[in-house]
Amino acid sequence: MKIATGADHAGYELKDHLAAELRGSGHEVDDVGTSSGDSVDYPDFAAAVGRKVASGEVDLGVLVCGSGLGVAIAANKIRGVRAATCNDPYSAAMSRAHNDANVLTIGARIVGEGLAEEILRAFLSTEFEGGRHGRRVGKITALED
Ligand code: RB5
Repeated sequence: MKIATGADHAGYELKDHLAAELRGSGHEVDDVGTSSGDSVDYPDFAAAVGRKVASGEVDLGVLVCGSGLGVAIAANKIRGVRAATCNDPYSAAMSRAHNDANVLTIGARIVGEGLAEEILRAFLSTEFEGGRHGRRVGKITALED
């Protein structure tokens, strides 16, 4: 898959770790930064990843900030983005199975590298179930109008 990654200064180390994991698993990574601990504004990176997902340029997005919250709130402002903050593997699996999430967000100040890897694996390995969940996701999409 082609996956866009992004983070702010609080999340860039974990984002870089996850990007390396993705590459190691054979995925193509489109990293929008940031790439240092210099203070930046998370909405800029959330928007860059969200736009790539919404346009179809990439299949999925992964965003990391301190809590995982700010990047999700920002990315969800972009039409077509369904960003879910998942700081545990169950939430990651459910965000795909029931919500058809297309952007995973993680809090680097909450989860360590090992747990983040499990969260990412759960997100990538779970398919959207469709059916009644498709109807509900359709109603979410309708809220964009
Ligand atoms: C940065 O201090 C922090 O506010 C940011 O990484 C994120 O947690 C915001 O939601």
